[in-house]
Amino acid sequence: MPGLIVDTAARMMQAKASSLLLLNEDGETLRFEVTTGPKKQEVKKHEIKIGQGIAGFVAKTGEPLLVTDVTKDHRWYKSISDNIDFKTKSIACSPLKIDSDIIGVLQIIDRKDGQPFDNDDLNILNVFANVCSEAIHNARRVESASRRNLELTDQAAEKHKIIGKSREVKKAISDGLKVANTKASVLILGESGTGKELMAGMIHYQSDRKDFPLVVLNCGALTESLLEDELFGHEKGAFTGAATLKKGKFELADNGTLFLDEIGEMSLNMQTRLLRVLQEGIYYRLGGSVNISVDVRVISATNRDIEKEVKEKNFREDLYYRLNVVQIKIPPLRKRRTDILLLAFHFLGLFKKEQARPELEFSQKTLRILETHSWPGNIRELKNAIERAVIMSDGPLISPGDLPFAVGEKERISFHEQDLKQATLHFKKKLLIHTLESVQGNRTHAAKILKIQRTYLSRLISELEIKGV
Ligand SMILES: Nc1ncnc2c1ncn2[C@@H]1O[C@H](COP(=O)(O)OP(=O)(O)OP(=O)(O)O)[C@@H](O)[C@H]1O
Ligand SMILES: [Mg+2]
Repeated sequence: MPGLIVDTAARMMQAKASSLLLLNEDGETLRFEVTTGPKKQEVKKHEIKIGQGIAGFVAKTGEPLLVTDVTKDHRWYKSISDNIDFKTKSIACSPLKIDSDIIGVLQIIDRKDGQPFDNDDLNILNVFANVCSEAIHNARRVESASRRNLELTDQAAEKHKIIGKSREVKKAISDGLKVANTKASVLILGESGTGKELMAGMIHYQSDRKDFPLVVLNCGALTESLLEDELFGHEKGAFTGAATLKKGKFELADNGTLFLDEIGEMSLNMQTRLLRVLQEGIYYRLGGSVNISVDVRVISATNRDIEKEVKEKNFREDLYYRLNVVQIKIPPLRKRRTDILLLAFHFLGLFKKEQARPELEFSQKTLRILETHSWPGNIRELKNAIERAVIMSDGPLISPGDLPFAVGEKERISFHEQDLKQATLHFKKKLLIHTLESVQGNRTHAAKILKIQRTYLSRLISELEIKGV
């Protein structure tokens, strides 16, 4: 674009040569960005310092300048002109500015008919210089926005990096990468906190859908009608309170990926509706009559034993086959102990940086405890434990006391109570406290680990008078 502007300016003003010079990043030199005229290639090899010659002077002062006879002007820097063997007499030069910053200059050299340039020429050149500045400003804005965007996708990809060297995790990662660039449905299985969502993210960001959205929907957290509304959206006025049109997650994920988390919690009714959409590829918004067709890749996840759910008819077999084209199993941490320390060091690095505690390291005893802990909350529990330890530690060594679980205590069962009922209650209470602590009090996660309903967990918490977690 600036090339075209310079060319037009030179032609309109009958100039023998013209050039657009831009300020380099050092802020001290100008480079020839666009040149016209018989010596346009040669001149490009040169650079000008701010303040040097006519162009350098204009770049320094920010004021336009007309010189009718350069041989009589002390500012004239003739070495370039001599060097490229191009005789110069008159020059008109205008500054290029973005807001009030000088970014370069636009200059024209000698009129073809041999007449010197006059003030009218300089005024016209000023107009061209403004247009040029505007074009450069826009181009730079677009460039920096797209660079920022690239960095963002890079950062997102980095955040979804899965750490692990155990055979099981390597297999899961390689399976994930293999299917990333296909449209195959993927079902991710694993206990709470094992990294199912992370895996879904990896698949999305490694696929050619990565520049489109990854939309996440937690099917376990919503009632049936809310889930329906989230998935399919509604038309304006579809029901009382539907004041505006709402797009469903399916639409929002168009060309991208839809991650259906906790799919095992979906009611049979919703399973039927979902299956229909997956089979037909089209659906209606609630209260709508227009077919909506979308191109969506579906990844789903559950921590339930889904095959058992199918057998017990809690989960539709046909939907299971639809979702389970490729299955990725993520084993619990206790079954891949080689990953524990690797992850611990990874998280230590992360939180050391975040908390500005570069000196922190694990003590030998802490490492042994980390390695042998049973990690019921899996990687989420490990991550939270390290975060807490980094905050609590007086440094430079992280000691066992900095870890969130009271070491050794959980294994010690009290035999003081001879009464089985009392002892059981005591044990229940300890287990609940331990589990809740391992997930930082998140009852939904704790209920999942204990494989009980969240409401039952809440009842136990109040019955057993558990406080402070
Ligand atoms: N292999 C891994 N490498 C690095 N970080 C991990 C790994 N696995 C899990 N994490 C981290 O652990 C936390 C829990 O992971 P994630 O949310 O993916 O688990 P999940 O299986 O979806 O859990 P839930 O079933 O409770 O929803 C996240 O902060 C995630 O970044
Ligand atoms: Mg999850």
